[in-house]
Amino acid sequence: MELPESGDLQVMYTEEKILERVRELGAEISADYAGQMPVLVAILKGSVIFLSDLLRSIRLPVQVDFMAITSFESGGKPGVARILKDLDIPVSGRPVIIVEDIIDTGLTAGYLVRNLLARDPRSLQICTLLDRTVRRLVDLPLKYVGFDVPDTFIVGYGLDYRQEYRNLPFIGVLPEEAMED
Ligand code: IMP
Ligand code: MG
Repeated sequence: MELPESGDLQVMYTEEKILERVRELGAEISADYAGQMPVLVAILKGSVIFLSDLLRSIRLPVQVDFMAITSFESGGKPGVARILKDLDIPVSGRPVIIVEDIIDTGLTAGYLVRNLLARDPRSLQICTLLDRTVRRLVDLPLKYVGFDVPDTFIVGYGLDYRQEYRNLPFIGVLPEEAMED
């Protein structure tokens, strides 16, 4: 499928607006974790673009690691998840921040929280660029949230539709015609 022209997508958040908000989140994290060296745990693949901007907005020594898990979005049974790529860094006794692109039902993040808490971190918080509270099934305390989004499927800035559109610098609504079945 051809990447649609920018004009084909209804822009929800411009590149400038996203970066402005990401820098605010970076400043908040820098203040909250002063004197500590947090481990940012980014969840592959959607959060990599957010991570790269967030990371450069944090004025602290930080470490970065990645996890990949089977997603709930492709018909996986709720509550059943599997780690495809685990952390390289041991997080026991460390301040950990989960970095997510979007928290929708909360099933993915809920699983990660349970999994990471079992490793006995010093602290555990969630930083998500987007929060779709209207679809939440799992009660999760979110410490850092970029934007609360409506119940509309969105792509860009890391978010995909069938692995495409992650490279759009903005976040937009994919037109119905671009979605199959
Ligand atoms: P949850 O487990 O329902 O919270 O889903 C979280 C994951 O679903 C995110 O990390 C995304 O990969 C994916 N997701 C949810 N909503 C969207 C969307 O609007 N566009 C693209 N991916 C989405
Ligand atoms: Mg995805």
